[in-house]
Amino acid sequence: MAMQQKQQDGGHAKLAQEQLLQASTELMHHSLGYLNSMALGCAAKLGVADAIPRAGGRTSLDDLHAALSLGPSKLPYLRRVMRVLVASGVFAHEQEAADVDNAGGGGGGYYSLTPVSSLLVTTGAGAGASCRSLLPLVLLHHSPALCVTPATGMAEWLKSGKEETAFEMTHGAGLWSVCSRTPELGELFNDAMAADSTFIMDLAIRGAGQVFDKITSLVDVAGGTGAAARAVAIAFPHIKCTVLDLPHVIGSIPTDHGGDVQFVAGDMMDCIPQADALLLKFVLHDWSDVDCVKILKQCKEAIPSREAGGKVIIIDVVVGSSSQATSQGTQLLFDLIVSTMLPGMERNEKEWCKIFKEAGFTEYKISPVLGFRSIIEVFP
Ligand SMILES: C[S@@+](CC[C@H](N)C(=O)[O-])C[C@H]1O[C@@H](n2cnc3c(N)ncnc32)[C@H](O)[C@@H]1O
Repeated sequence: MAMQQKQQDGGHAKLAQEQLLQASTELMHHSLGYLNSMALGCAAKLGVADAIPRAGGRTSLDDLHAALSLGPSKLPYLRRVMRVLVASGVFAHEQEAADVDNAGGGGGGYYSLTPVSSLLVTTGAGAGASCRSLLPLVLLHHSPALCVTPATGMAEWLKSGKEETAFEMTHGAGLWSVCSRTPELGELFNDAMAADSTFIMDLAIRGAGQVFDKITSLVDVAGGTGAAARAVAIAFPHIKCTVLDLPHVIGSIPTDHGGDVQFVAGDMMDCIPQADALLLKFVLHDWSDVDCVKILKQCKEAIPSREAGGKVIIIDVVVGSSSQATSQGTQLLFDLIVSTMLPGMERNEKEWCKIFKEAGFTEYKISPVLGFRSIIEVFP
């Protein structure tokens, strides 16, 4: 009996020890997990993804080091950055048969793109052709001023009793005024939004083009520098497309911007130009519920009745719309970054529905067809 008891205790103690080791490993993994993101930001800034198609589709560490013009002593560090990015699936590494001891991205072998890193390629040779590159969005996420510093101050911000965002606590002003008074930050932000719009509108038009059926005019409300409107105008030349955004954004657009799109400088809280349909892409998640209702009420004023074809097309996150773990995780991360930068949030269907009703709309249809985002058609 005593012997049996001892064995049981030993078993429990062993289990506890294994659990503790597993828990400590997981804790360290989460605690240092930001370095996965930092390694991605580093590769984005260095242009690693562009170097691979330039080298013919795969590159050795030595050639990559030379192509990126890094300091002579930095080769071992580049290898370690790449090893982390191979482990997280951003790049692929194929070992030479004679070099199997160097597993996980050693000095030998070749690096190539994965579907993830192909979206960082800015030249035409990669899987993500130039106009579809998401590199500017990754550079925005790694901007110390716009994203990283406000997020680093999250604990201090939560403790603060002041009604301000973490971004406002960092800068003493909101995102739109900082983008307006610091043109290089405005450009970084607008370029990131334009890259995202070009990428996602192409997929939206190809995968859910019926959303634009029977529309003859569209206003892209808070449409940035017009990438989404331009995509609609090219795909549906009969739709008259207009972009409304703040004066500093519209003022930054070159006059020879190309494409048949009109630009209007204004405040969507005051007035929205009339059209059959309005597009709100990545806009409402920037705002509180109260402001969303105000914006949607302005939208309702600008469109005809449902019978006459009036509708609002929203492209945004619907939390819980996807059963895929990466999409769910991405929705939660977007919620955190949005809520440090702006008074907004990512919303679930119930929260969206409440806003639509309060703004006087009668019906909506959610199509979860854009990965972690959805298209929501809202009808008056
Ligand atoms: C997150 S960005 C989205 C831009 C664009 N819809 C896209 O997805 O590419 C939000 C946009 O809202 C604009 N904005 C902010 N406040 C606004 C206002 N009161 N009236 C019009 N536009 C506004 C910003 O200048 C910015 O371009």
